[in-house]
Amino acid sequence: MKKNRNQYFPLLAVFSTLLLAGCSGTAMEQSASAQTAKPRPTATQNTNSNANVSNANSTTSNSNAAKTLRDPDVVYVPTPQEVVDEMLRMAKVKEGDVLYDLGSGDGRIPITAAKRFKIRAVGIEINPVRIEEANRNAAENKVTDLVKFRNADLFESDFSEATVVTLYLLPSLNEKLRPKLLRELKPGTRIVSHAFRMGDWEPEKSAEVNGKMIYFWRVPERSNK
Ligand SMILES: C[S@@+](CC[C@H](N)C(=O)[O-])C[C@H]1O[C@@H](n2cnc3c(N)ncnc32)[C@H](O)[C@@H]1O
Repeated sequence: MKKNRNQYFPLLAVFSTLLLAGCSGTAMEQSASAQTAKPRPTATQNTNSNANVSNANSTTSNSNAAKTLRDPDVVYVPTPQEVVDEMLRMAKVKEGDVLYDLGSGDGRIPITAAKRFKIRAVGIEINPVRIEEANRNAAENKVTDLVKFRNADLFESDFSEATVVTLYLLPSLNEKLRPKLLRELKPGTRIVSHAFRMGDWEPEKSAEVNGKMIYFWRVPERSNK
């Protein structure tokens, strides 16, 4: 009997970590570093013997061609729909915008933006399982003409055409991303982050939705100095 209970302990530990990941950024961070410390095959590697670990620059928008890149920097936790709605409202998304969600998960932010505002939207996501799910969701919502998902590392991607960027990553990832955002995005581009700030870059606006924080910045004009 005692031996049997011990067998379940690793399963219980994984389950508790996933529960916590839904609740706090710290747990998301710990869970992500656990993933990095112990690389394990993704679902694609398990089921497809042809799957290769590929170059992080690879950008593929079709689910059939989705490739395994490297371990995600943060685990997948979806943004609640009411928070998605407020993020888009805070960014004042409008016709003509191009929205990029960096680390797009199941695609809910680009899909909601395309459905509601008829704008073009792109999701960049490192996990091919999420890319497949996002492509299915885009098809179900009939927005495949407006929404594309790229299986790529956001830190290696070109998102300079964006007029709106959405994030739900981690404080440390937001800080790491900040120089790229400021260097490559056009002045005036709006950035909205669920839950996490961006170091000492003070947000222009913030709001709380059901206990979840949202922060807003605008890329400033470049100084000539
Ligand atoms: C907390 S989830 C947010 C998902 C979605 N943006 C949302 O708000 O519902 C973060 C996502 O980022 C992805 N991710 C982590 N590191 C990444 C990287 N370096 N490049 C692209 N995606 C990454 C994860 O696989 C995960 O799906």
